Amino acid sequence: MTNPADRNTALAARDLKHIWHPCTQMHDHAMTGKGGVPMLPIVRGEGAWLIDAEGRRYLDGISSWWTNLFGHANPRIAAALAEQARTLEHVIFAGFTHPPAIELAEELVRITPPGLDKVFFADNGSAAIEVALKMSFHYWLNQGHGEKTRFIALTGSYHGETLGALSVSDVALYRKTYAPLLLTPILAPSPDAYEGEPGESPAQVAARRVAELRALLECHAHETCAVIVEPLVQCAGGMRMYHPDYLAGLRKLCDEFAVHFIADEIAVGFGRTGTMFACEQARVSPDFMCLSKGLTGGTLPLSAVLTTQHVYEAFYAEYSAGKAFLHSHSYTGNPLACSAALATLAIFRDEPVLERNRALAAHLGRRLEPLRDHPHVAEVRQTGMIAAVELVADKATRCPFPAEDRRGLRVYLHGLRHEALLRPLGNVIYFMPPYVVNEAEIDHLVTVATSGIEQAMV
Ligand SMILES: Cc1ncc(COP(=O)(O)O)c(C=O)c1O
Repeated sequence: MTNPADRNTALAARDLKHIWHPCTQMHDHAMTGKGGVPMLPIVRGEGAWLIDAEGRRYLDGISSWWTNLFGHANPRIAAALAEQARTLEHVIFAGFTHPPAIELAEELVRITPPGLDKVFFADNGSAAIEVALKMSFHYWLNQGHGEKTRFIALTGSYHGETLGALSVSDVALYRKTYAPLLLTPILAPSPDAYEGEPGESPAQVAARRVAELRALLECHAHETCAVIVEPLVQCAGGMRMYHPDYLAGLRKLCDEFAVHFIADEIAVGFGRTGTMFACEQARVSPDFMCLSKGLTGGTLPLSAVLTTQHVYEAFYAEYSAGKAFLHSHSYTGNPLACSAALATLAIFRDEPVLERNRALAAHLGRRLEPLRDHPHVAEVRQTGMIAAVELVADKATRCPFPAEDRRGLRVYLHGLRHEALLRPLGNVIYFMPPYVVNEAEIDHLVTVATSGIEQAMV
């Protein structure tokens, strides 16, 4: 029998013997107990909290990679899942369908921006991006425009790590090593307000970046299938935020130059930015909208690509025309995942989620306010339920800390010692909690982050 006080260590040792974790230099864990990074076995979740094998609790300030909306082990989603598991766990999705997928497609069409009437399911965020890229390319091919083979992506963007999704991503950490394997996107400068000129407002940055995008399209529209963006917040790129005017300008340019607009709302969809979908803040409908993460409330992997009847019709022809869209995953439209998504969307229907989030977001903003004066904080920014603190070596010049310093990691380790899961992106400490947090829990996250920042600056 393992001594209860050693349960974490025992499970971590078994894990490390065989498991290779994502986004991890496994050597970081080799020093566990000697100043390294712990491998924490979580055995239970409860609301916004995660509980380890020794009963220690961690407030999930990042919604477990931005997936969780309504708390861990949410009873309503769990009940829907249990019921579905007893009814139908899975069925091939070619030639067969099932009520949860049908209902979910109807509901997604109802709640997404107008004109998105067709739903293609896949099973994670990166797969949704692959679908959108292939579908856009294939649309143009079916229209007699096989010369359109390229994509425009924003600097600092992140769309996933399968080869296609990574191709249109621009975060060096993930992309650099694999660059020889990737498609070459055309990079448009991000409207990221942090990178604006001194004195420039976010709206002015957006206007300038729209003009630069126009210039790119003038050169490249003929060979471009689509422009792909993360609406309003470039999450993995450091929670960089921009003005909705950019999306409105992008929509107009895509129409004018006959290229598609792909909105990757995988991280920002389902209420994160204050509206159900970020595109709503610019009153635009993209040609493709990719959804995942919060779609199942953070319970199971599932993704969906929504597109227009117009796009769909470019593929709709006699079999012999060879125009069908070809992309399949074994678990496409999995009934369990669809049921979890339906239960998640039912919570949005039955409870004033966005209204409650507005109050929580305002509280989070107020609590972060004092950090603006910190000598190593260049910016505190927020869009709805996403807030970020940019740490710099020099406030006046905004000179960043060298990545090797791993200041963010120090904040992470401090958080774990003080019942908070904060997982900074480099030098950006951010907050993206599940919507079930209360004000006291937000206070806890901010207090721990603030003391963590102090310690990390030494
Ligand atoms: C905007 C965005 N797109 C795509 C992805 C990829 O999703 P997944 O990790 O499910 O493949 C992510 C993941 O963080 C993301 O933030």
